[in-house]
Amino acid sequence: MSEYLANPSRYSTMKYNRCGRSGLLLPAVSLGLWHNFGDDMPIENSRAMLRTAFDLGITHFDLANNYGPPPGSAEENFGKIYAQDFKPYRDELIISIKAGWTMWPGPYGDYGSKKYLIASLDQSLKRMGLEYVDIFYSHRPDPETPIEETCEALAQAVRSGKALYVGISQYNPDQTRRAVETLRGMGIRLLIHQPRYSMFDRWIEDGLQEVLETEGVGSIAFCPLDQGILTSRYLEGIPKDSRAGKSAAFADRVTAEKVEKVKKLNEIAKERGQSMAQMALSWALRGGKVTSVLIGASRPSQVVENARCIEKLDFTEDELSRIEEILAGK
Ligand SMILES: NC(=O)c1ccc[n+]([C@@H]2O[C@H](COP(=O)([O-])OP(=O)(O)OC[C@H]3O[C@@H](n4cnc5c(N)ncnc54)[C@H](OP(=O)(O)O)[C@@H]3O)[C@@H](O)[C@H]2O)c1
Repeated sequence: MSEYLANPSRYSTMKYNRCGRSGLLLPAVSLGLWHNFGDDMPIENSRAMLRTAFDLGITHFDLANNYGPPPGSAEENFGKIYAQDFKPYRDELIISIKAGWTMWPGPYGDYGSKKYLIASLDQSLKRMGLEYVDIFYSHRPDPETPIEETCEALAQAVRSGKALYVGISQYNPDQTRRAVETLRGMGIRLLIHQPRYSMFDRWIEDGLQEVLETEGVGSIAFCPLDQGILTSRYLEGIPKDSRAGKSAAFADRVTAEKVEKVKKLNEIAKERGQSMAQMALSWALRGGKVTSVLIGASRPSQVVENARCIEKLDFTEDELSRIEEILAGK
């Protein structure tokens, strides 16, 4: 691939939202590297997706220690692409990493101990060739490690200069409140929560969003397309080159009931002049409660299509109530 020069008009269309009560603005659409950035994917495709995203003003790339396959390879591949294409743009990028799922054998490569989190942060920086990350997350709550210890590890990441901000993922409302308070006691602000959120998974509406709003914490919704189900991908069956086509376990989640709902939702999307994927993303961003939608992609054209969700973020009352009815199975 030729030398990369970022699109000079990359900031002309993307919308940037304030992340809670912080100084940080995040793009309304961010790109996650969970799938399609490991060693199973030609690196030139991953590279093209990152270039496409940044050219559209998508300044935030989300990683985790275990993304691959194999685990660690998404960070390594990102590091290679970063060195070739993005180094001159470091100060225009928000790069996040996480630790919390199984990463290496033995008792110190999983969950939320300080031993694990600090070692993992150092490993991630090395794999990516970075001096610091913008956001370091506790990837999931640990039922056994005291929250004080997990928060101490996050606080140390900030104090050491290896992370600018900290976040948590998959914490319930009560765990979130405790993390906010514990970090506050250490002089550190919780920047962001990363929960799963889509038309098909609305658990955050049941208490979490209220806590985040009260505490001034931002949110970034992962799997906003339900891994592709909330797009036109599965309307005519399961294509071989889709995520469900490649994973039998995931294919089980593409149920006839969901596909029926997506077909009906797609009619509303068409009326709005949007693709199904775009409407699902606009819906997740409706009302401004979610700071950013964290999309995945398998090809640059999906990034282009999805980024355009910001062109129509408003919904009429009628559209919203018809969507509710479809989701409720009426
Ligand atoms: N914190 C956590 O615990 C956690 C957990 C999961 C994910 N995440 C984060 O969230 C990110 C996104 O997750 P995700 O990849 O599941 O998100 P997603 O946006 O719900 O699904 C992305 C997949 O949907 C399909 N797709 C996307 N746009 C499409 C379009 N316009 N038309 C048709 N198909 C389209 C693609 O799959 P195919 O083309 O391959 O079918 C793509 O890989 C991850 O990369 C990661 O950063 C975090």
